[in-house]
Amino acid sequence: MALENKLGIISSSELARVEEKITKEKAKKLYDSGDIKNIEVGTFKGLSDIHRYLFEDIYEFAGMVRDVNLAKRGFSFAPRIYLKEALKDIDSMPENTFDEIVEKYVEMNIAHPFREGNGRSTRIWLDLIFKKNLKKVVDWEKVDKEDYLLAMERSPIKDIEIKYLLKNALTDDIDNRTIFMKGIDQSYYYEGYNEYSIDDLSNPSFKQ
Ligand SMILES: Nc1ncnc2c1ncn2[C@@H]1O[C@H](COP(=O)(O)OP(=O)(O)O)[C@@H](O)[C@H]1O
Ligand SMILES: [Mg+2]
Repeated sequence: MALENKLGIISSSELARVEEKITKEKAKKLYDSGDIKNIEVGTFKGLSDIHRYLFEDIYEFAGMVRDVNLAKRGFSFAPRIYLKEALKDIDSMPENTFDEIVEKYVEMNIAHPFREGNGRSTRIWLDLIFKKNLKKVVDWEKVDKEDYLLAMERSPIKDIEIKYLLKNALTDDIDNRTIFMKGIDQSYYYEGYNEYSIDDLSNPSFKQ
């Protein structure tokens, strides 16, 4: 059974396909329209705006803090009763150095504020912090899927692996549209969505 959605889709494989198409188009629009420049950097508000932007056509809970507990691969994310407090604490975490930024990202992943779509939206959020504060972004194509998922699984205990992977994938080429778009495809591939390439999708606000 698929997660309850606005489209009334019941099959999880159909939802995965439709969700990938619609939300990738939104990710493309987020960049090409320049809306991404208006996202507040390094706060839950900014992350929530990204999440809503991508998922508002699919889920009622887009941009909203989850009201259920969540676990993945044996790890329980922040209990819902502490979540709002945790998000306030994360907002005030520093983000001046590479280490501080990754530590903030790891904490946001542990918080896992949304019912679904945390990975994809939080990687965009992370890149905005790197871009603003270090004048760098992650070239996600350089981060192997299995390495990434294992490093994230390990990150609540030890963040050395995710730091190593991200450090080796940073680039100064921060205004390169191709790096952003390929990063979205890679980010979706981590989560099992690889039916569509973002290049082949239309951009809702830029249709000819
Ligand atoms: N056991 C785990 N411990 C810590 N983080 C995890 C674990 N399993 C998955 N993750 C993180 O959760 C993300 C997936 O969260 P999810 O809300 O499903 O996002 P999406 O819907 O974008 O796939 C992964 O990209 C990874 O960063
Ligand atoms: Mg998911």
